[in-house]
Amino acid sequence: MAKEKTLEDLFHDTLKDIYYAERKILKALPKMARAASSPDLKAAFQKHKDETEVHVERLQQVFELMGKRAQGKTCDAIEGIVSEGEEIIESFKGTAAIDAGLISAAQAVEHYEIARYGTLKRWAEVLGLNDAATLLDQTLSEESKTDEALTGLADASANEIAKAA
Ligand SMILES: [Fe+2]
Ligand SMILES: [Fe+2]
Repeated sequence: MAKEKTLEDLFHDTLKDIYYAERKILKALPKMARAASSPDLKAAFQKHKDETEVHVERLQQVFELMGKRAQGKTCDAIEGIVSEGEEIIESFKGTAAIDAGLISAAQAVEHYEIARYGTLKRWAEVLGLNDAATLLDQTLSEESKTDEALTGLADASANEIAKAA
C-alpha cells in the first residue's frame, strides 16, 4: 500500500510549486516592463516586481515556520503561462496592441497566483499554521490588487489604443 499522505504533504508540495513560480515571475517582470509601451504599465510591472521580491521572502518564512528548507519544484503551469507571455512580446512588440497583450499575459500569472495562495491560505488555517496563513493572506491581497490595477490600465487606455490603431 502507498505510504499515507496528508494535507500537510499537499501544503508542502504546493508551497514548493508557488516558490518556484514566484522566482520565475521575478525574472519575467523586468522583461515585461521593458516591452510595455505606456509609462503607467511599465511602472505597474516595476512595482509588482518589488512586491514579488517580498512574496519570495514570505514563502521562505512559511517554509521556516514549517521547519522545512525553502525549496522549489518545477511548476509546469507557470512555465507555460510565462512562455505564452514571451510569445505575445515576440508577436506584438512595437505595435499598438502590445500593452493590451502584456496585460492579458500578466493577468494569467496573477490568476494562477490567486488560485494557489487562496488554497494555501485555507490549508494553513486548517493545519493551524496561523502565522503562515497571515503571510499567505498578505500576498494574496497584493496579487488581487495587482489584478485589479491591470484591469484598470486595460480599461483606461490599453484596449482602446489596441483597437484604434
Ligand atoms: Fe506573487
Ligand atoms: Fe503576482
